[in-house]
Amino acid sequence: MASGSNGLKGPATNTFVDTASVEETRELGRRLGQVVEAGDVIALEGELGTGKTELVKGIAEALGVTSGVHSPTFVLHHRYQGGLPIEHYDLYRLEGMAWVDTGLDEPAPNAVTVIEWPERAGVLDDWATIRIRLTALGETRRRLTFVRGPDRMRRVFQHAPGD
Ligand SMILES: Nc1ncnc2c1ncn2[C@@H]1O[C@H](COP(=O)(O)OP(=O)(O)OP(=O)(O)O)[C@@H](O)[C@H]1O
Ligand SMILES: [Mg+2]
Repeated sequence: MASGSNGLKGPATNTFVDTASVEETRELGRRLGQVVEAGDVIALEGELGTGKTELVKGIAEALGVTSGVHSPTFVLHHRYQGGLPIEHYDLYRLEGMAWVDTGLDEPAPNAVTVIEWPERAGVLDDWATIRIRLTALGETRRRLTFVRGPDRMRRVFQHAPGD
């Protein structure tokens, strides 16, 4: 795993981690899971198959949830009971439907909320206080870029595991 920055200074500086395997992406997720707090709303941006769900698995693992995390197929929302409750949204299939018509609740303040395809629900997207972008660099390589969020999260991206 390698971490880096885009070299810009100031609050807009991006910080990223490149992973070379699913396991490394999960490891980054586990480290994020160690610093999440109740009320965090994390938007995960990225195309199909970039590793959003694998990252969620790592976050959930750190909170004691070891099974059941997957990309919901027709369900837009899952809740896992960990050290903190985890609200997992996958809005891929929301396209065209208004958030108010989904019957889904707002992110719970006592939970950690993670959202795949957040841009498909503007309302939910606006709630996100933390934003991570995933891109595929190759068959097994992914770049996870910290876009926005508190320093406790930014720090996770500033050191590749093993540093
Ligand atoms: N470094 C890596 N990190 C994460 N996943 C990887 C990596 N290399 C290869 N992969 C593969 O990429 C896929 C990532 O799947 P995942 O379900 O996490 O994607 P996703 O972003 O949630 O996609 P979707 O938008 O369809 O939900 C898996 O098939 C996984 O094996
Ligand atoms: Mg997914």
